[in-house]
Amino acid sequence: MHEAAYRALGIDATYERVRVRPDELAAFIAGAEAEGYQGLNVTLPHKSAVIALIHEVTPTAARIGAVNTITIRGGALYGDNTDARGLVRSLEDAGFGAEGARVVVLGAGGAARAAVVGLSEAGAAEILVAARRPSAASKLAEALATDAPAPITGHGFDDLERVFAGADLLVQATSATLAGSDASSDVAIRFADGLPWDALAPSATVTDLVYQPLETTVLRAARARGHRAIDGLGMLIHQGALAFEGWLGVAAPVAVMRAALL
Ligand SMILES: NC(=O)c1ccc[n+]([C@@H]2O[C@H](COP(=O)([O-])OP(=O)(O)OC[C@H]3O[C@@H](n4cnc5c(N)ncnc54)[C@H](OP(=O)(O)O)[C@@H]3O)[C@@H](O)[C@H]2O)c1
Repeated sequence: MHEAAYRALGIDATYERVRVRPDELAAFIAGAEAEGYQGLNVTLPHKSAVIALIHEVTPTAARIGAVNTITIRGGALYGDNTDARGLVRSLEDAGFGAEGARVVVLGAGGAARAAVVGLSEAGAAEILVAARRPSAASKLAEALATDAPAPITGHGFDDLERVFAGADLLVQATSATLAGSDASSDVAIRFADGLPWDALAPSATVTDLVYQPLETTVLRAARARGHRAIDGLGMLIHQGALAFEGWLGVAAPVAVMRAALL
């Protein structure tokens, strides 16, 4: 995706995958600029640990507690989390604006956290987080509600009918719909079948952050019921496009990046 974008814009750069063990992280980060890197993407398990190793993080990354993008400029390393705005941009692309929306987020892991922060910063009126372990949902909601402009509350799956009522946007942020060995695994089917679809207004938009497969069981069920359904590829592309723009200071060729992934 990134190298396709460099080629399209005639930028002489490469995007490399580097495996870094936890005990090598500090040395790798400290030596990145000398190695010629202008920017880094950071993935598991380093997204939180890297915060202590860089000079500054954006308020968004600080709220999420995870950095996925580092820009290196003039000897300093700046950390951001582009997943949050990546999701918001992807929804906007598909015609959904978060301003004033009542949002339900399923899941309480890292992706759910980024979704809650992104949608809260984009002006959602209310965010309800629901997880199979209600304590995990409450913990996430409490941690993020403190400096958020709108209420963020945690719920269990036994409360889903009430949670779904009045929602404008349903964000599937669990890994339940992720393809295992079989794209329509039992877990993914049971998960989608177990949702209280009748409680969701027909006008509600549904997005699944999982993009493998592109048509998850939740998106298939949503489409069958007439909901607008938005896949997780847009978030992946836009988090990359935002990183690209931070590193290079030029608009990312989003269509080129999308084509490279399909
Ligand atoms: N589109 C994108 O750019 C993008 C970016 C990031 C992530 N993602 C996708 O988002 C998914 C979640 O990522 P993550 O980093 O948040 O993972 P994570 O931190 O491991 O969290 C996974 C969450 O899913 C829940 N869960 C797993 N299986 C479940 C099931 N059968 N029923 C109900 N809840 C279940 C977990 O609950 P427990 O804690 O109880 O296990 C946890 O809340 C990934 O599969 C990934 O593909 C997409």
